[in-house]
Amino acid sequence: MGQYASRNDAQELAMQQVYMEKAAFYVAELKRQLGRQPLCCVTTFGCQMNARDSEKLLGILTRIGYAATTEEKEADFVIYNTCTVRDNANQRVYGRLGFLNSMKRNKPHLKVALCGCMMQERSVIEKITKSYRFVDLIFGTHNIFKFAQLLVTMFENHEMIIDIWQETDQIVEELPVNRKYSYKSGINIMFGCNNFCSYCIVPYVRGRERSRDPKEIIQEIEHLVTDGVVEVMLLGQNVNSYGKNLEDPITFAKLLQEVEQIEGLRRIRFMTSHPKDLSDELIDVMKQSKKICRHLHLPVQAGSDRILQAMNRHYTKAQYLALVDKIRTAMPDIALTTDIIVGFPGETIKDVEETIDVVRKVQYDNAFTFIYSKRTGTPAAAMEDQVPEAVVHEGFDKLLKVVQETAKERAALLQGKVMEALVEEVNEQDASLMTGRLSNNMLVHFPASESLIGQLVQVSLDECHGFYYTGHIVK
Ligand code: 5AD
Ligand code: SF4
Repeated sequence: MGQYASRNDAQELAMQQVYMEKAAFYVAELKRQLGRQPLCCVTTFGCQMNARDSEKLLGILTRIGYAATTEEKEADFVIYNTCTVRDNANQRVYGRLGFLNSMKRNKPHLKVALCGCMMQERSVIEKITKSYRFVDLIFGTHNIFKFAQLLVTMFENHEMIIDIWQETDQIVEELPVNRKYSYKSGINIMFGCNNFCSYCIVPYVRGRERSRDPKEIIQEIEHLVTDGVVEVMLLGQNVNSYGKNLEDPITFAKLLQEVEQIEGLRRIRFMTSHPKDLSDELIDVMKQSKKICRHLHLPVQAGSDRILQAMNRHYTKAQYLALVDKIRTAMPDIALTTDIIVGFPGETIKDVEETIDVVRKVQYDNAFTFIYSKRTGTPAAAMEDQVPEAVVHEGFDKLLKVVQETAKERAALLQGKVMEALVEEVNEQDASLMTGRLSNNMLVHFPASESLIGQLVQVSLDECHGFYYTGHIVK
């Protein structure tokens, strides 16, 4: 555990390609033994970053000869890409590991791997090495680009392989990726986080901020567009600080302007924006843009100044509200969503009332509300006045009610309008309907043919059903 990587990315890529060939040999051997193509199942916990990482894992697994399945029971290789932002994500992994253990008893050739944020925690590794001895491979967030090599090590050894790095400065480009959707894709523009919000474990498990070279980002998007992608989601823990530590610094707003120039690309989204770093330049670029979607995810976390300060968020309630005002003045039709934590140490019902006041004033289109989860190693975990569960729930329920009311009101505003939707998939409940996504991130369901998937269509939003619409194509 705990090594630093050196920076030689092209050489690293070449080396991983050799490992892919070697791993393919082992998978071919397994295929011969099984008399069928081996299946792999990649399960993602957590955020969009993890979802993108899983596409990279699947890219390598399919390159070396596995076929993908979403049925864990059928798989010959199972990998969990874990999240540790809240404890319930960890508990879900442990629960499922119990089930995998019994699966492996009936299927001894089954390989089990764990990766992602949870694996960056020492206590987790201790628990797995003690209680889940059947796991074959464990790695973390910094060495995912070595997945092919780790697979080879796993195939050549019969004991548990553990490789966790504390940091890396390496960004290896052009490894294979297996995209979940043909028409849209996430793109990492940066990794890690430097903000150290006092409740958050991300800076400890994802390391310091590293931005990708803008040329690499543009090139990747150009390739994706050639491959049929019309919508991209630029991903980073705090995209507003993109580019600050590059050799030739560049702002996020400038990067967006460059992405906008890519011909054939129709829609641009991004996530996540820290309110303290959202610049006037960005608001201006969004306002002028024809491609940037009318949606901004702007986590507020809390409304009380005392709690915001203890959270180390670097803004006050008034500053946040002023920022929202500025954004809404520039773009009246923008949808705003947020993240809120209830039950941070020392938070009282009066503090939660301040949060509720923000929700009422901002009128979020959607808000993700979380109960504070104590993460060992973060400053907040050591704070004395942890909030009793009953108080947390009282505040949480009150908040949720207001969030739902305001979101419903916002959603209803679009009734009868005609808007552009990206046709995404067949409706899960009714196969005669297709599901489309509006620029503001809302969903609309309408009768259409499956052949329209990946296309932008004009849809009349006939009826609002709380958080989604039903409608019909007008053009
Ligand atoms: N407890 C509860 N929620 C958390 N988040 C991050 N850390 C914690 C925690 N310890 C939430 C924040 C963040 C979102 C991704 O997860 O609201 O914006
Ligand atoms: Fe966590 Fe704060 Fe960084 Fe977001 S900005 S990942 S909440 S430390």
